[in-house]
Amino acid sequence: MAQQKSFSSNLGAIMAAVGSAVGLGNIWRFPYICGKYGGGAFLAVYLCFVFLLGSVLMMSEFVIGRRAQHTPVKAFQTLYPKNKAWGLVGLLGIVTSFFILSQYLVISGWTTGYVWNSVSGALAALGTDSAAISAFFIQFSTSPWTPVLFLAIFAVIVLIVILGGVQKGIENVSKVLMPVLVVLVLVLCVRSLTLPGAGKGVEYLFSPDFSKLTGEGVLAALGQALFSLSVGMGVMLVYGSYIPVKDNIFKTAMWITVCDTLIAILAGVAIFPAVFSCGFEPTGGPGLVFLVLPNVFNTMGAAGVVFASLFFLLLMVAAITSAISLLEALTAWFCEHTGARRWAGALLFFVVTTALGVVFSLSMGSLSHIKITGLTLFDFVDKMNSIYLPPLCALGTIIFFGWVMPEEDIKDEMSNHGTLRIGYYGLFRFLARYVAPLALLVVLVTGIIS
Ligand code: TRP
Repeated sequence: MAQQKSFSSNLGAIMAAVGSAVGLGNIWRFPYICGKYGGGAFLAVYLCFVFLLGSVLMMSEFVIGRRAQHTPVKAFQTLYPKNKAWGLVGLLGIVTSFFILSQYLVISGWTTGYVWNSVSGALAALGTDSAAISAFFIQFSTSPWTPVLFLAIFAVIVLIVILGGVQKGIENVSKVLMPVLVVLVLVLCVRSLTLPGAGKGVEYLFSPDFSKLTGEGVLAALGQALFSLSVGMGVMLVYGSYIPVKDNIFKTAMWITVCDTLIAILAGVAIFPAVFSCGFEPTGGPGLVFLVLPNVFNTMGAAGVVFASLFFLLLMVAAITSAISLLEALTAWFCEHTGARRWAGALLFFVVTTALGVVFSLSMGSLSHIKITGLTLFDFVDKMNSIYLPPLCALGTIIFFGWVMPEEDIKDEMSNHGTLRIGYYGLFRFLARYVAPLALLVVLVTGIIS
């Protein structure tokens, strides 16, 4: 069995997985989905999914990955050689990662564009006129070439980092920059909370009105929980294979889950008070963050330009680390199966996902007439990436974990070969065997029907 490369310390493993988990999902996607599906009630359901399902799935993926020391497809086949078909669960994860990367590139392109627009002063020139800021965003995101240009710039940066072999460098830099991003979000929270009428936003986020919750909203909460934690796509499984033998899988997964969730909630606190104060709608859709934040920055006077530039730059760095890890997972899988060179694999997926990304980007403007099941291509792929593919892959993973993989292997792996006491094991096993698969099944079926 090939021993994969491993992280040097528990902190290294945690930081790398946090780097994968924290990204546009927390700061761009969480506020817009939360706003779309009713605020506080959505948050409550989201938190249940994160802790009862997401963290359990993350632990399962870590156990499978560290036990098998392989990429997703081979990992399942190694742990249960009697039926190679379980590899399909891993394949589903790979397909999911592929589509997520294509979609991710679009929003990363927007972020890159907003770095430019902040630095150039174009955003500051709009002042606090909400209508002008909205018009600017619509003009930007629906114009045929500008978003594509920025998407291409972003994608090339990612490719250079991967082919240049400076990933480790980027990861080290991002370990320093990500805490800075969190500090910036905290400052934004303070600014947003002190805007006139901010209280309404706080209420919207924290006092749940369950009458606003729909079946689709519950499914969206599940999808957001999986998307944000990067589970249900085999990526955490790959990270699991890098976790050192002496590390505590339970603690590692809990740390990542808590950090990721706190950052999403902070993003919510930074956005919603401003949404109400500046007269936007919480249901503003994928552009929400790009509409609301410039308004907040522009209330900060001259400092706002510096702030906005720094914020979008750091968000772009967060997106780069996530995009790298997605491309890395695809490349690792492809090369393990075909024996192709790393650079060839990376280049292949780079070209295909960028091309798809361009199509998704155009689907908000010049190709918006193309609809699948009534949705634009972007909205369609967003749905696939959150509420269909990851829950399905998660269901396969958790059934494998709870019912197929030998239990001695799980106990042995979670207790680090008997050296750790695992007092929580009973509860964990119960969640993994009964609660998680049932919840996934019920939510998937009812969500699809409604
Ligand atoms: N969790 C990431 C975010 O919140 C998005 C994501 C989903 C991701 N799956 C991934 C990132 C796999 C890296 C690898 O932005």
